[in-house]
Amino acid sequence: MSTTTPRFQTIGIVGTGAMGRGIAQIAAQAGSTVLLFDTQPDAVTKARDAVSTQWDKLVEKGRIGADAASAQKARLKPAAALADLAGCDLIVEAIVENLDVKKKLFAELEGIVQPTAVLATNTSSLSVTAIAAALKRPQQFAGFHFFNPVPLMKVVEVIAGLKTDPAVCQALAEYARQMGHTPCRPKTRPASSSTTPAAATAPRRCASSAKAWPISPPSTAS
Ligand SMILES: NC(=O)c1ccc[n+]([C@@H]2O[C@H](COP(=O)([O-])OP(=O)(O)OC[C@H]3O[C@@H](n4cnc5c(N)ncnc54)[C@H](O)[C@@H]3O)[C@@H](O)[C@H]2O)c1
Repeated sequence: MSTTTPRFQTIGIVGTGAMGRGIAQIAAQAGSTVLLFDTQPDAVTKARDAVSTQWDKLVEKGRIGADAASAQKARLKPAAALADLAGCDLIVEAIVENLDVKKKLFAELEGIVQPTAVLATNTSSLSVTAIAAALKRPQQFAGFHFFNPVPLMKVVEVIAGLKTDPAVCQALAEYARQMGHTPCRPKTRPASSSTTPAAATAPRRCASSAKAWPISPPSTAS
């Protein structure tokens, strides 16, 4: 667990399936308070239980202390409604891979959060620029693409859309490092709407540009 103040102190995770719960785990380990929201009944409870089990195993192995595990568990909180995410300074979306559903979600989130909040998508294959198309503040939006399983796959793509503020990408890259991950900037992003091709090639794309964040500003929009 990090001893520094996390770049994003209160974050929201929307979609607590395979990816959302992994991102929640490393965010709580970095010291953030993490609010979890999912439309599926019991999904948040299952995610919290799964992450807590991981931490219990780490305690058994002597990798983390019982006090640290308890503190991390206390930072994972359920959100009963999207409106409960109003105080988040970052929201990471990990819902179904569907452009229209993601656009609708972010349009709603934009009306809930503060103007300074960062909104991020974990999409594997959709265009960040396309998801941001309906937003009033596309400069506050970026891709934050983790790999599965998140706690073990220690790289994350930080992806600028055409209108993303470079400072947003720098902040996400800084936060990624606080979570123990290496932020990278993919050189290209497939235009495909299918998950499989992008997921298959992303680690390779990421590895080829692993030193790109936060050394240089973004030059390639997706
Ligand atoms: N699974 C992977 O290997 C992987 C890797 C990288 C990125 N991704 C991307 O991450 C995202 C999530 O993938 P996953 O594998 O975690 O999916 P998942 O099916 O395991 O979890 C998705 C969760 O989102 C919830 N959900 C769906 N629509 C919602 C909505 N409108 N609001 C709130 N919650 C909603 C579902 O109930 C479910 O719990 C997708 O965009 C996917 O492309 C997946």
